[in-house]
Amino acid sequence: MVLSLPRDAASVPVSRQVLDSCLDILGVMPGTRTDIALALGEACANVIQHAGQGDDYEVRASASGGRCIIEVVNAGNGAASGAELMPSGDMPPPTAEHGRGLKIIDAVAENLSLTGDGSEGTTVHFEKPLDWLPGAAGEFLFDEASPPAARPEGRPAGQVSGQGGPA
Ligand SMILES: Nc1ncnc2c1ncn2[C@@H]1O[C@H](COP(=O)(O)OP(=O)(O)OP(=O)(O)O)[C@@H](O)[C@H]1O
Ligand SMILES: [Mg+2]
Repeated sequence: MVLSLPRDAASVPVSRQVLDSCLDILGVMPGTRTDIALALGEACANVIQHAGQGDDYEVRASASGGRCIIEVVNAGNGAASGAELMPSGDMPPPTAEHGRGLKIIDAVAENLSLTGDGSEGTTVHFEKPLDWLPGAAGEFLFDEASPPAARPEGRPAGQVSGQGGPA
């Protein structure tokens, strides 16, 4: 799924809810969807608050190997390089008003990275392993890591389980 969005605060709940609806349709567990929505909201809010130039940004989400891979891409921003923005282990002071968004993404998702520099823009990448409700369409379609046992591999269409096997 790719969304091209205007850099407007109203886009943040829209992108969060569109991706959450996709994950709901695919049958992703509610707790996993909550983590993805939280992380995506922080990444999108950062584009609205910190990216200096460019009227649009993109949210890209894909499912592969049992993982959801998400990238939030904004145009040139004049900020420090992506690597310098990566969160350290230090927590901000308890009274600090800001500085928690990337740490939240890092806490609820995996493989967080920021790439790019001031002129190229910033790409925030993170991943989340997907887990599935029973019978989820997404597990059948996207979970190459662990295909469901009931998947009728190689069985001719319409053949009923138990028929056609060795006597
Ligand atoms: N997409 C982005 N483009 C440019 N700079 C960014 C981007 N994302 C993060 N940053 C920079 O990284 C810093 C840390 O981001 P983080 O989300 O952790 O904190 P914050 O946005 O300052 O505060 P909070 O999210 O807690 O309200 C930001 O202050 C900003 O300088
Ligand atoms: Mg932030």
